[in-house]
Amino acid sequence: MQSERLRGKWMEDKVMSAEDAALLFKKDMTVGTSGFTPAGYPKAVPLALAKRGEEDEDLNLTIITGASVGDELDGALSRSGVMRRRYPYQTNKYSRGGINDGTIEYSDMHLSHVPQWVNYGFFGDIDIALVEALAIREDGGIIPTTSIGNSNVFVKNAKKVIVEINTSQPMELEGIHDIYTPDNPPNRLPIPLVKPNEKIGSTYIPCDPQKIDAIVFTDIKDKTRPVAPIDETSKKMAGHLIDFLENEVAKNRLPENLLPLQSGVGSVANAVLGGLVDSKFENLYFYSEVLQDSVLDLLDAQKFNFASATSITISPERLGSFYKDIDRYRNKIMLRPQEISNNPEVIRRLGIIAINTAIEADIYGNVNSTHIMGSRMMNGIGGSGDFARNAYLTIFTTQSIAKDGDISSIVPMVSHHDHTEHDVDIIVTEQGIADIRGLSPKERAKVIIEKCVHPQYKDLLKDYYKDALKGKYKHTPHEIGKALSWHKKFLETGSMK
Ligand code: COA
Repeated sequence: MQSERLRGKWMEDKVMSAEDAALLFKKDMTVGTSGFTPAGYPKAVPLALAKRGEEDEDLNLTIITGASVGDELDGALSRSGVMRRRYPYQTNKYSRGGINDGTIEYSDMHLSHVPQWVNYGFFGDIDIALVEALAIREDGGIIPTTSIGNSNVFVKNAKKVIVEINTSQPMELEGIHDIYTPDNPPNRLPIPLVKPNEKIGSTYIPCDPQKIDAIVFTDIKDKTRPVAPIDETSKKMAGHLIDFLENEVAKNRLPENLLPLQSGVGSVANAVLGGLVDSKFENLYFYSEVLQDSVLDLLDAQKFNFASATSITISPERLGSFYKDIDRYRNKIMLRPQEISNNPEVIRRLGIIAINTAIEADIYGNVNSTHIMGSRMMNGIGGSGDFARNAYLTIFTTQSIAKDGDISSIVPMVSHHDHTEHDVDIIVTEQGIADIRGLSPKERAKVIIEKCVHPQYKDLLKDYYKDALKGKYKHTPHEIGKALSWHKKFLETGSMK
């Protein structure tokens, strides 16, 4: 086992327990870790670090990842008080709790921005890169597991590297990675990627062996999230979206096999993609951040030609069969660093159809994807902004109501702005689809209210808009004093009605 995973004699002396590796972390350090969605993140060393925190040691660590990671990292380090600062995205209830109660400083960033911040030291020095791997090559090259995220950039910039070899990750994953790291400006060249399935880099992360300070073995599995069963609401959204895409093909605005698709995370995103299984579309391409179960369904149904992302996060129910059948998927899947999967240059060049989820949208097409009622951080913007700003078509989905109908997800004014009206083309709810391309704000408001709003809230929104139109300025009519009164009413009474 060890020779397959550790391919050089020199590394045998560096193997140690997670507890010993955890002692290499000192107070106030900045740590860059592997991991993107709960896939490919380090597990044993963070759990050992959390023990130090539980023993009242004040470590005050800054943790930078690719994106969200599993509970062994975000959860354990939040509960133990070890993590005091976090970038760039999280989905863990304990880190979210710390962020919202003010004990964890969090900066929610576009994921494509992180590599540049690391390269130029905007976060300060990266003291330790802590990365999960399948194996280490003789030349120090690190072979990643189920995600790449920012690992290549952390390894390049960190003073020390700690590698967690995870034996629960099958060696068959080797070869699905394509690591390409752009140079910094002014020497940066165009990224030589014009199709989602092109290979432009190496299958491993180059690393100077001298930098590897510790190697820890573990077999803790990725704690991937179960995917909720596809419900009627999600099916309706998928139906609207597929009708829309068919219509775009009929109008020659999209080729018959569409353009490469990007889809956000979560159950609705999964359902929307799942809807493509029963559609007439074939030979599809996927160029995204995350591959979820629905992508395997599409590959199984021979609808997809190829899927490129930075992470593969398969639900626990499906993970076993994915690993068993990995040879069937190997030539259809590629994982890249997030600097490439989320790269604006590549997204624009490939002409991506970006489908992401909104918490709420307003009648003019602005979208909030991150903050509940303007203040409570949910997860973060993740890659949605990278794709929304640069895609060929930018689509946001949301259920028309939340909290059993006490909230309308279409409101007069969003309580927090992530994606502005300038970036949003299409809004989909289970009620219908609003194509707001080229419309003035007044035209947008009419279409969004008509097509997307739940019947319980339609008259209320029409009344708001009618009153707003009485104001002096008619471009984006608002009654500014009342614009957020819907949120205020919910916070005071528990319902927007
Ligand atoms: N107002 C207030 N709360 C709302 C709401 C609204 N309009 N709409 C949803 N919510 C609440 C839900 O009730 C739920 O609350 P709970 O946690 O207390 O149960 C929570 O928001 C999440 O809603 P849910 O419907 O379960 O969302 P989801 O799992 O589909 O995730 C996002 C939706 C927007 C939070 C998620 O997609 C996200 O984090 N997006 C940003 C990052 C991103 O898009 N990345 C894409 C590239 S991978």
